[in-house]
Amino acid sequence: MQGMALVGCGSAVPAASVTNQQLSARVDTNDDWIRSRTGIGARRIAGPLESLTTLATRAAQAALDHAGWRAEDLDLILLATSSPDDLFGTAPRVQGALGASRAVAFDLTAACSGFLFSLITAAQYLGSGSMRRALVIGADQLSRWVDWDDRRTCVLFGDGAAAVAVEACPAAETGLLGFRMRSDGSRNACLTLAQTDGHELLLDGITAQCGGFAPIQMNGQEVYKFAVREVPAILADLLEGTGTAAAELDWLLLHQANQRILDAVADRFAVPHSRVLSNLAHYGNTSAATIPLMLDEAVRDGRVRPGHLLASSGFGAGLSWGAALLRWGGPEP
Ligand code: COA
Repeated sequence: MQGMALVGCGSAVPAASVTNQQLSARVDTNDDWIRSRTGIGARRIAGPLESLTTLATRAAQAALDHAGWRAEDLDLILLATSSPDDLFGTAPRVQGALGASRAVAFDLTAACSGFLFSLITAAQYLGSGSMRRALVIGADQLSRWVDWDDRRTCVLFGDGAAAVAVEACPAAETGLLGFRMRSDGSRNACLTLAQTDGHELLLDGITAQCGGFAPIQMNGQEVYKFAVREVPAILADLLEGTGTAAAELDWLLLHQANQRILDAVADRFAVPHSRVLSNLAHYGNTSAATIPLMLDEAVRDGRVRPGHLLASSGFGAGLSWGAALLRWGGPEP
């Protein structure tokens, strides 16, 4: 089994930023409530000239440039998203826009766990020796799917895309030192973006369903309890399984959903808050994009350096959650 090196990253966010203050003109909320409960100060919202495809393509191209690769070098493009431009798949559009003519491209849906699940999936193809170079993209445009009159959810989410370039390498040099993945569909109702139950009488005795999705529905308190229980548990299991002490970690790179969740996880492992990466204040929860978006920012500003050890965890709808122990192997910024 080969290893997988993380050798480049890139990101792209929409041009428009909406602050909490601005949002309070649209829905009954305020900056103080949102900041104190979530840590979010603003979010990016994709406009009419932007799309999941354009954001994901820009992020992917930036990751290719960072790794020093050409698009034709790619064997695989995995796009983690729950908000595709096309339900048949958005990854092939990105592949086409990049000109990655040799790469197979497909979407993977696991909500806010999607990026980590995709990274782990890519590692299986690289590890088996069947592929050498892949781009793993996390991209979401949940602003399409929030109810802007539901203040309990609409303040939380934003749009964005980010990508990581990964390459097969000798097992001893791998950047994926261990992982865990979990799902619990019995708690699915806690957080959904579900098919609506519209239907149409097609023929006598035959009724067909109509396509369409209801806006995001969330039981915030249940999701919060899930996150502060399961994320520390899965990280503890991963650290124990890989023989890693929390003190050895350079960074905690968690899904950016809520600052209180980040702080609770850090406290559980006695990781100083200065070693917890957070950009919630600027972007909110960009779902599958949060982890690579945060990684890209921290790599580019020099916080994450080659050789640094990161414990990452994604969690969200499904319910789904996962964790990975990563060593950054990209170039200096
Ligand atoms: N602005 C102002 N007031 C708000 C508000 C908003 N945006 N959203 C909710 N409120 C109000 C509620 O109406 C409620 O008022 P009431 O007591 O008069 O009915 C009060 O604030 C408390 O609401 P509650 O839902 O109990 O708040 P909370 O402390 O649980 O915080 C979340 C809500 C969403 C911030 C919190 O539950 C959370 O972060 N959950 C996890 C969500 C998450 O991470 N989801 C994504 C996972 S990938």
